[in-house]
Amino acid sequence: MSLTVYRKAHFNAAHRLYKEGWSDEKNLEVFGKCSNPKYHGHNYELEVGVSGVIDPETGFLMDFKILKDIIKEEIEDPFDHKNLNLEVAAFQNVNPTVENIAIEIWNRLRKRLHAKYDISVKLYETPRNFVVYNG
Ligand code: NI
Repeated sequence: MSLTVYRKAHFNAAHRLYKEGWSDEKNLEVFGKCSNPKYHGHNYELEVGVSGVIDPETGFLMDFKILKDIIKEEIEDPFDHKNLNLEVAAFQNVNPTVENIAIEIWNRLRKRLHAKYDISVKLYETPRNFVVYNG
């Protein structure tokens, strides 16, 4: 029997989507408002799912406090109120699209959570636009 626990988190961050070598006009055409050369922000909403089996000794799948602390250390502290292009190394050469941010979050969590768990990352860039990445 497998089940999934979820933890929600939130961060605000700035970004710019663009392709080096394209004109501002071409970037605007492809990336829309997100290509603003002066950057802009989003209120990102994150849902992390951890799947596995319940530990019969504790009744926990995993301790929520531990999950909360890992999300804080790996995602909220490094991303919140940051410029993702300039301040997060993973996005220096990778467009910080909601897709790529979700993958980066998953990779960070994968390094911190035991291999016995499956991880799901749901990331909202706006209330209506979100992605799910399961590795
Ligand atoms: Ni944007």
